[in-house]
Amino acid sequence: MPDQFALTDSAAQLILTHTALRPQIALVLGSGLGGFADSLTDATRIPYADIPAFPRSTAIGHAGRLVIGHAGSVPVAAMQGRVHLYEGYSPQEVTFPVRVFGRMGIRAVILTNAAGGINLSYSQGALVLIRDHINLQGVNPLVGPNDDRFGVRFPDMTHAYAKEYRQIAREEAAKLGIPQHEGVYAGLLGPSYETPAEIEYLRRIGADLVGMSTVAEVIAARHMGIKVLAISCVTNMAAGILDQPLSHAEVMETGERVKTTFEALLRAVLPRMN
Ligand code: HPA
Repeated sequence: MPDQFALTDSAAQLILTHTALRPQIALVLGSGLGGFADSLTDATRIPYADIPAFPRSTAIGHAGRLVIGHAGSVPVAAMQGRVHLYEGYSPQEVTFPVRVFGRMGIRAVILTNAAGGINLSYSQGALVLIRDHINLQGVNPLVGPNDDRFGVRFPDMTHAYAKEYRQIAREEAAKLGIPQHEGVYAGLLGPSYETPAEIEYLRRIGADLVGMSTVAEVIAARHMGIKVLAISCVTNMAAGILDQPLSHAEVMETGERVKTTFEALLRAVLPRMN
């Protein structure tokens, strides 16, 4: 396997030559949620294709570029679109951007995603702070020889989703009048949506949300000591809850509908993530 440390390091160096900003916070914007990156000021936009070894996204609704700019007065690096395991990317490719962030000096990452709501107290469009996850993707990005330059062999996952960041997000959501939810995210491989029986199983094992991303990125981030805030947008109630089929169009539509609220929350949380 090519040396991930050297590859991520050279991608990070190249990115930093494009901008004088030195962000310490990065955002990964999921399906339909990429609009936030368009609102950054003093922005430098770098297509993934121009960053060596950076994976390019193929999913619909993902722009595929890194935007570095200011959110208010906070310099940030924002990924407009991510790659997923279901696209055929390896766990190393999926986590490459997070590792590049680490090499850029990023200390905290906000991961956003679209998810199906399993918890019946959620409704379509709800924003949910991820409190913990269940990895059902069948892979872990740290499998293979450990590179101690990234982190330890057996990273702790007890505090994967920083409690203080969730607290900040709850406070800012309250100020904005956004209902506050927290939940456990089950990460599955996809790309087919779950069956109703799978959703019933996920509910019984303690999942509130289901999606096809985020988990591998969180593991790689924690490995490097990067702190994590993760927020799901419940774009649809999970399979079998409502008597209707799920569609990617519905996921995109809901993302579009809540994007103003979502962006307001991100904007409010960022200055407090020190
Ligand atoms: N299941 C899995 N992933 C998803 C869903 C879902 O219902 N909605 C958005 N991403």
